[in-house]
Amino acid sequence: MDNKLLTGNKIRPEIRELKPYKSPFFKYRIKLDLNESPFDIPAEVKEKIFDKMRGFLWQRYHDEFEEPLISSIGDYFGYPGQGILIGNGSNELIFHALLAVVLAERAVVYPEPSFSLYRQNVVVLGGKPAPFSLRLDDFSVDADKVIELAGSLDAAAVVLCSPNNPTGGRTPNEDIEKVCNSVDALVVVDEAYAQFAEDNAFELLEKCPNLVLLRTFSKAFGLAGLRFGFALCAPEIAGEIRKIQLPHHVNFFTQVAALTMLENPTLIDERVSAIKQGREFLQKELSDIPRLKPYPSEANFILVEFEGIAPDKVFDRLLARGILVRNISNYPDLAHCLRITVGRPEENEEFIGALKEVLG
Ligand SMILES: Cc1ncc(COP(=O)(O)O)c(C=O)c1O
Repeated sequence: MDNKLLTGNKIRPEIRELKPYKSPFFKYRIKLDLNESPFDIPAEVKEKIFDKMRGFLWQRYHDEFEEPLISSIGDYFGYPGQGILIGNGSNELIFHALLAVVLAERAVVYPEPSFSLYRQNVVVLGGKPAPFSLRLDDFSVDADKVIELAGSLDAAAVVLCSPNNPTGGRTPNEDIEKVCNSVDALVVVDEAYAQFAEDNAFELLEKCPNLVLLRTFSKAFGLAGLRFGFALCAPEIAGEIRKIQLPHHVNFFTQVAALTMLENPTLIDERVSAIKQGREFLQKELSDIPRLKPYPSEANFILVEFEGIAPDKVFDRLLARGILVRNISNYPDLAHCLRITVGRPEENEEFIGALKEVLG
């Protein structure tokens, strides 16, 4: 049906031009495409969550978990609760943080290639997308270039992704600090993959009042399906962003599950170290294969560049063997690349065997 008839042309033209953010669906046996944890929540932890859920009244709103959850996150990460915001995944918090500063036509500076949701959010909010290119040789951030762009556009926000998806590199803290201190803008650093990295920007929170760090339970914590993320920032900023959040926006099942996961920190540590070992295995194996370049990664995925064969072909041939990876060859500057999520040890081995076959 022509939606003009329904809306009298009130749907904004920039929304009409957007495509919904959706990952394509493929049938697979081994899933190495969306950077999720390869490890499910152990059955006994799920049982604990179900037991708690059975005891609560589902017909009520449940605001009683938010405070303990925030204080538990605060204890786990060593940060005061007034500066912690929770959300339905960190994606929702990117949106909320930008909503606090983006007005019609205000610019938001963000990296390319990176997570495509940044541009989508800026467009939805009526802001002006202002992408900057990562350095072509190693996909690092040129802090001076970011500062110049943000200054010239009087940007409302600068978004950085560290480690960056899909390139895998981390932006050093001195560069993040320099950006924070040199721009009159909110600086949102998406640290969805922080647990797999050598360092993170946590220590900068004390020094940089315009910094918002985004973290998620979707990767290291293995809760992607339940949608939980949180932000760390100055209490003043948290207080403003909190006004944007809708009542009871994080459902209480998710809150109970997140609380329960925080009671099991050793489980998370063990899994993170297993994923890092898997990453090392893949790095080593991939670098032994001719005409293929794995980029260094501090995340739970590896960017791989192919020479002499189209990534589409590699993707299709892997999929024919039941192995699903992420085809990112349509991203800016990544025409020869695929992204591989680190899987369980046996999945990583099977992937390497299949890749060798595919490349013949
Ligand atoms: C850079 C980045 N941020 C955030 C997320 C995940 O967000 P969420 O916490 O909403 O699951 C992803 C997931 O792929 C990501 O790559």
